[in-house]
Amino acid sequence: MSTYDDQSAVTVLGLGPMGRALAGAFLDAGVRTTVWNRTPGREADLVARGATAAGSAAEAVAASPLTVVCVVNYDASDAVLRRDDVTDALKGRTLVNLTADTPNRARSTAAWADEHAIAYLDGAIMTPTPSIGTPDAVFILSGPKDLYERHHPLLAALGGTHTHLGEDIGRAAAYDIALLDIFWTAMAGYAHALAVARAEGVTARELAPFAQGIGAILPPLFAEFAGDVDDGTYSGELNPITSAVSTMSHIVHASESHGIDASLMRVVEGQARRVVAEGHGSDGFVRVTDLLARQAH
Ligand SMILES: NC(=O)c1ccc[n+]([C@@H]2O[C@H](COP(=O)([O-])OP(=O)(O)OC[C@H]3O[C@@H](n4cnc5c(N)ncnc54)[C@H](OP(=O)(O)O)[C@@H]3O)[C@@H](O)[C@H]2O)c1
Repeated sequence: MSTYDDQSAVTVLGLGPMGRALAGAFLDAGVRTTVWNRTPGREADLVARGATAAGSAAEAVAASPLTVVCVVNYDASDAVLRRDDVTDALKGRTLVNLTADTPNRARSTAAWADEHAIAYLDGAIMTPTPSIGTPDAVFILSGPKDLYERHHPLLAALGGTHTHLGEDIGRAAAYDIALLDIFWTAMAGYAHALAVARAEGVTARELAPFAQGIGAILPPLFAEFAGDVDDGTYSGELNPITSAVSTMSHIVHASESHGIDASLMRVVEGQARRVVAEGHGSDGFVRVTDLLARQAH
């Protein structure tokens, strides 16, 4: 039996892979769900599962006290939301934006929402679509705490863990950007490594178990170095940056010997060499954070 009563209703705007997963999880939990997408046709399977397809975004918003929007970026969510009919329909209701973008876009959207008496929470989803509706899903949200608490029971239908990161509306996007920075930089390294390995006659399948081993080293390092970075200690006792820089230059040379672009690693090597030149060669690699942070203004 559903834990959600007849009064529980949600609208989902945006039916890409993630929007469809969100709407599907609400439906599975027994929440009355209205859906809309810019391009029609994506709602068919959801309607077959009990969703109501709205004829317009404004009609969709008017159907529920809570609207969740999840589209490609904030240019797209602006295109959907900042139309007079949609903005009018949102007035006095709650909007949760689970679209990924920058902290500043979250802040400007919150200012727009405030101007139009729309209660606003900003969020991000840190796990892929198959996780939605399961304990593996990870949602981060920011904005007014009372608003988060009011809507959390319904949002919990999406499964997984939901963390309210604070009242600064840009905070969820700030975490999202930082985490995606880790993800895409790692994926870029992985893609590059496979190209160099292939040039040396090593297949991706052959490398995979060892690649997984290298990947597994990272999570404990994230925890260990967090203290170094926050406390400014940067201990390099076990792996000083002078040693790290040497292995980076091997990657550059091996790549370029095969004509493979090594500009990503050249950038990282350059940063590490600058740290050494500044007299911090015995520090650990994360001293680079300090170098980069000094560029912030
Ligand atoms: N997929 C994942 O595993 C995943 C994981 C975590 C976070 N996310 C985030 O979730 C959000 C949605 O991702 P997604 O996987 O559903 O696919 P997506 O390709 O990022 O977004 C597709 C959705 O955006 C809509 N859209 C694009 N441009 C638009 C515009 N100008 N006006 C109105 N709607 C527009 C599309 O509508 P049309 O159908 O009309 O083109 C569709 O509904 C993104 O911010 C993504 O970063 C996704």
